[in-house]
Amino acid sequence: MSESFFITTPIYYVNARPHLGHAYTTIVADVARRFRRALGRDTFFLTGTDEHGDKIVEAARKEGLSPKEYVDRMSGHFRDLWPRLSIEPDRFIRTTEPGHMETVRKILQKLYDSGDIHFAEYEGLYCTGCERFVLERELVDGKCPDHAVEPKLIKESNYFFKMGRHRDWLVEQVRENPGFIRPQRYANEVLGFLKEPLEDLCISRPKSRLQWGIPLPFDENYVTYVWFDALVNYLTAAGYPDRPDFGRRWASVEHLVAKDIVKPHGIYWPIILKAAGIPLYRHLNVHGYWNVAEAKMSKSLGNVVDPLGLAEKYGVEAFRYFLMREMTFGLDASFSEDALVARINADLANDLGNLTSRVLTMAHKYCEGKVPERDEALESETGLGLSAEASEAAAVYVEAFGEFAFQKGLSAVWDFISRMNKYVDTNAPWVLARNKAARGQLDLVLYNLLEGLRVVSELIAPVMPETALRMADLLGAVPGAGSDFGLLAPGAALKKPRALFPRIEPPVEKAAPAPPPEKPAAPSVKPEISLEDFARVDLRVGTVTAAEKIPNAKKLLKLAVDLGEGRIRTVVAGIAAHYEPEAVVGKQVIVVANLKPARLMGVTSEGMVLAAVDEAGLRLSRPESPAENGAVVR
Ligand code: MSP
Repeated sequence: MSESFFITTPIYYVNARPHLGHAYTTIVADVARRFRRALGRDTFFLTGTDEHGDKIVEAARKEGLSPKEYVDRMSGHFRDLWPRLSIEPDRFIRTTEPGHMETVRKILQKLYDSGDIHFAEYEGLYCTGCERFVLERELVDGKCPDHAVEPKLIKESNYFFKMGRHRDWLVEQVRENPGFIRPQRYANEVLGFLKEPLEDLCISRPKSRLQWGIPLPFDENYVTYVWFDALVNYLTAAGYPDRPDFGRRWASVEHLVAKDIVKPHGIYWPIILKAAGIPLYRHLNVHGYWNVAEAKMSKSLGNVVDPLGLAEKYGVEAFRYFLMREMTFGLDASFSEDALVARINADLANDLGNLTSRVLTMAHKYCEGKVPERDEALESETGLGLSAEASEAAAVYVEAFGEFAFQKGLSAVWDFISRMNKYVDTNAPWVLARNKAARGQLDLVLYNLLEGLRVVSELIAPVMPETALRMADLLGAVPGAGSDFGLLAPGAALKKPRALFPRIEPPVEKAAPAPPPEKPAAPSVKPEISLEDFARVDLRVGTVTAAEKIPNAKKLLKLAVDLGEGRIRTVVAGIAAHYEPEAVVGKQVIVVANLKPARLMGVTSEGMVLAAVDEAGLRLSRPESPAENGAVVR
C-alpha cells in the first residue's frame, strides 16, 4: 500500500466568522494534500471547529442563543466556506460530537490511571481570553499581552497534568529530530520556552464556573480545559483507539498551524501523547501571520479580510495562487488587494496566460491545430530542447512542496514559464514558418512549448485545480498524467486559445497622468538606471486594429491594439497631432505592456506606445520587419 499522508489544520474557534487567516491555513492543507495525492499517496485531510469553553458561552449569550444553537450556526459558516474555496477536506470534525467527547474522556482516564494527573488547590491569575492560568512573568504591565486585560485572581481546586517531568525528554526530542517542528525557527522557539521550568497544566474547570465542556470521567463536577479537548480531535478523527486503520493513519500525521498556537502543539501535545503511550506526530508545520497594512487583523481595527469576497471578486484560483505565492512559509506576510491584483496581472494574465494563448495561436496557425511531431534526433542536433529545464523546475517544485516551501516551488515553475517565453522569442516560430526547410524545427519548437505548458498544468494543479484542467483541455492532454516531459501525443487536437485569466484593473483609480510631452524641452540624457530597472519594463509588439479620436482631446487617439493575448487592449496615445486615425490602423507599434492602467480623458489606457520625437515631429516606433503580435522587444 502506498505511503500515507494525514494532514490536519487547527480546529477553529466558532466565536467569529472565518477570515483570511483561517482560509490560508486550510488552503495550504488542501494544496499539500492535492500535491501528495498527485504523487500517488493515500491521503487524509482533516479540519473542523473547536466549540467548547467560556468564549463560546459568552459569544452565544451576546447573540441571544443557547451555546448549542450558536455553535451549530457558526460551525456551518466554516463548513460551507471550504468548498467555495475549492478546499475538499475528508473529515470536518466538531468537538461537540458525542464520539469526540468519548475519546477525550478515554484519554483523560488513561492519564489519570497512569498517575499523570493530580488534584490540588491552586491560586493564580486567570485570563479569560487565553482560557488558562497565566504566570506573573508572562504579563506586560500587569496585563495579558495577547488580550490586553488584567487577569483575575482565582483560588480553586483543580486537576493538573504533570508536565514538568517530561521536559528533558521533550528538549531531546526537539533537538534530536530536525524537522519535527519546522521551519527551524519555531523549533528554536519551543526550545526557548523549555528553558523555563514547565509548570503543571491545569486541565479542569469546575462546573460551577463553566458548564459548556466535556465532563471529566473521574470527577463529574469538572469539565476539561478547552485545549485538552481541542488537541484530542486529531486522535478522534484518526479513529483512536479501535479503528483498524488507526495505526497506519496516525503514523503519517502532520499538523499545520500558525505561530500563535505553537506552544500547545509543540509542548502540551507531544507530552500528552507521550504520557498516553501514543506515537508522536511526524511534523508540526508552522506558518506566519497575514497582516493587513503591517497591522494584525482584528475586529477592533476593522481590517479583517473576508476570503469569500476576494475569491468571488478575483476568482478562487487566482486567490489561492496569490496566497501560496506571496507568503514565505514560516514568515509573516502582508496582505493588500493591490498586491493581489499585481500578481494576477503579472504572473497569471501576463506570464502564464499570454504564453498559453501565444503558443496555441501559433500551433493553430502553423500546425493545423494539432500537436506536432517531436523529432528527438533533431532536438539533440540543434539543442532546441526544453525537457532539461522542465525536469529541473519539476524537481525543485517537488522538493519544495514536500517541505511546505510553496513559494519556492511556484517560483521555480514561473522561472520555467519565463524560460519558455524567451524560447518563443529566440526561436521565433513565425520566422521558421517562412522557411520550408525549417519545418522539422518549427514542429519541434511548438511541440516543446505545448508540452512545457502541459508540464506546467500538472505542477500548478494542487494550487489551481480548475486552471490545470482547463489547460489540459486546451492542450488535448490527459490531466494528471504527471510531469515527466514528452507525454503529449502528436496528432492530439488542440482547442482554440481562450484567455485563462483576464487582466484586472487596479482597485484604486489614479489621477490621469499628463500625456507625454511631444517634444522634449532639452534632449539631455536621463539619469542612469540598472539592467534590472530596465528589465522591469515589458515592451511588446502589437498591431493597431482600430483607432479613433477622443472627443475634446486634441492630442489623443484611442487605439485598439492586439498584443497576441487573445483580447484587444485599449491604449491612449498622444499622437493625434501627427497621425490621422486611419493612418495607424493595421500598423505595428511597440507598447509598454506592463504600465499601470491609467484614465486619460475618461478612457482607461492599458499601455503606452513608443515614438521617436524630434524637431521634425513624432514618428511611431515599430519593428523593422513585421513580427508576431506579443513579440518581446529587448
Ligand atoms: N481553536 C484553536 C485551535 C485548536 S487546534 C487543536 C484556535 N482557533 S483559532 O480560530 O484562533 O485559529 C487559529 C488559527 O487560525 C491559526 O493557527 C492559523 O491557522 C489561523 N489564523 C488565524 N489568524 C491568522 C492570520 N492572521 N494569519 C495566518 N493564519 C491565521 O487557535
